[in-house]
Amino acid sequence: MSQRFSGKTVVITGACRGIGAGIAERFAQEGANLVLASNDLERVTFTADQLAQEYGVDALALGIDVTNEDDIEKLYREGHARFGSIDVSVQNAGIITIDHYDKMPRADFDKVLHVNTTGVWLGCREAAKYMVKQGSGRLINTSSGQGRQGFIYTPHYAASKMGVIGITQSLALELARHNITVNAFCPGIIESEMWDYNDRVWGEILSTDEKRYGKGELMAEWVKNIPLRRAGKPSDVAGLVAFLASDDAAYLTGQAINIDGGLIMS
Ligand SMILES: NC(=O)c1ccc[n+]([C@@H]2O[C@H](COP(=O)([O-])OP(=O)(O)OC[C@H]3O[C@@H](n4cnc5c(N)ncnc54)[C@H](O)[C@@H]3O)[C@@H](O)[C@H]2O)c1
Repeated sequence: MSQRFSGKTVVITGACRGIGAGIAERFAQEGANLVLASNDLERVTFTADQLAQEYGVDALALGIDVTNEDDIEKLYREGHARFGSIDVSVQNAGIITIDHYDKMPRADFDKVLHVNTTGVWLGCREAAKYMVKQGSGRLINTSSGQGRQGFIYTPHYAASKMGVIGITQSLALELARHNITVNAFCPGIIESEMWDYNDRVWGEILSTDEKRYGKGELMAEWVKNIPLRRAGKPSDVAGLVAFLASDDAAYLTGQAINIDGGLIMS
């Protein structure tokens, strides 16, 4: 694979597994210095060590909470101290819960918005400080198909992912003069541990006396609605993120790009 990102520093949050780990692997394949963060220190350290060993790159792992300003400040400070630049920052950490309108605790609503939206903004804000000084940078934010269209039993998640697109557009306008692009991507159904939860809980709530969903059945049914007829893999998403971070995407900013096998066409 090409070494497009050799000498570049890429920060990724939510990088211990799933989509974030897939993105990290793609940048490792293309020679980047990695700064990988997650609230699971043990697992993100494992992921970083594995990628460093397999691809011969330098990978720093940090245990952080994306909603904590001190943690975010430390993430970019330590990444910059280790590698000397912050070239790409992927704000990917995210969570979901699923519940009826009258059962969802206020705390769940607040937490999902806090992690998915405030966390993205905090990461962009801190990364941009370094990028403005450098005179270049790429901010890439994880939204969702729910950033395009809300889905049942997840009003907080839909709001949080629509919020990510708003942040992306607003910052793209402000940071363009500094040669910083800001884009988002909107994954559809991507195989990850998040789907173990989604499949089980949505499956439970959507089950009726006539139709009960067993393990994997709901996801399988939804996948039938995807024109490309399969769930996505983290590597599918990672290819788009690498493109957004590359020189080929230099004239692309303020966009939210669907990566969902054709599920939502807008
Ligand atoms: N899997 C999908 O189908 C899908 C679809 C659309 C959007 N997304 C989004 O993609 C992103 C990654 O999801 P995934 O499917 O890989 O899920 P995942 O649950 O496998 O991974 C989530 C990652 O976020 C980290 N994280 C969670 N809360 C954190 C916090 N407060 N601070 C730091 N790290 C935290 C976890 O440690 C983990 O590394 C999320 O933003 C999610 O909303 C996923």
